[in-house]
Amino acid sequence: MNIIFLGPPGAGKGTQADAIISTYGIPQISTGEIIRNTIRCDTPLSHELRHYTDRGNLVPDELVNRMVDDRLSKPDCATGFLLDGFPRTIRQAEALEQMLSRRGRRLDHVLLLEVPDDILVKRITGRRMHKQSGRIYHLEFDPPPSSVTPDLVQRDDDTESVIKNRLREYHEKTAPLIPFYDALGLLRRIDGHQPPEAVRRCIFAALEPSSSSRTT
Ligand code: AP5
Repeated sequence: MNIIFLGPPGAGKGTQADAIISTYGIPQISTGEIIRNTIRCDTPLSHELRHYTDRGNLVPDELVNRMVDDRLSKPDCATGFLLDGFPRTIRQAEALEQMLSRRGRRLDHVLLLEVPDDILVKRITGRRMHKQSGRIYHLEFDPPPSSVTPDLVQRDDDTESVIKNRLREYHEKTAPLIPFYDALGLLRRIDGHQPPEAVRRCIFAALEPSSSSRTT
């Protein structure tokens, strides 16, 4: 199963990814995570990446495309993948088509998680991650137990000023992917403004074989 997870920052892509990857036995490829891991090392590339992420701007297409191309070459992608946060521009989508066609692969579904902007700001400013396990919490919507409180971290780009720019980038550069994938018959719209369990049910309903219009 080859899936793209599309949606604005804070829509719940990371929250829902685990259930999908464990059900279908595919890896999650989060470009945000790859970029954050690269930033942790002190290299010229990490400084360049940080320049974009700290401001909530998208990283240039060529850099991200190369990261995804490398990642898709790993053996665990042989059974499929869940692309989380990629593509985010039309040029990235076109590059992905080339990466897949070189490998004789094609997309099965593009899941679009839709959530209103004001809710996204609340979700992102309240998000906290457990450092050791990577588990995502929300101070109000999914409160962490007190035992993990000392080990919670907030992402550097999860501040109100940066999130406004991330949303602007999404509407300007990523939202054009919605008609792009709709025209290919791949888009599955999911109402992401529901409790997580309800969102999960909608996702699995959308991934049913009868919802598919193209197959690997
Ligand atoms: P990235 O890491 O991809 O961030 P993002 O797309 O902005 O998405 P988020 O991780 O913020 O949100 P999410 O949808 O995963 O939400 P979550 O499940 O955590 O990108 C970061 C940066 O890297 C970008 O700004 C850019 O600079 C760069 N980058 C990455 N990819 C790139 C690319 N392809 N090209 C160029 N640059 C790139 O949920 C959020 C919160 O809400 C959590 O606290 C959660 O508990 C809560 N929540 C989730 N679901 C629900 C629900 N149903 N109800 C109530 N609360 C909920």
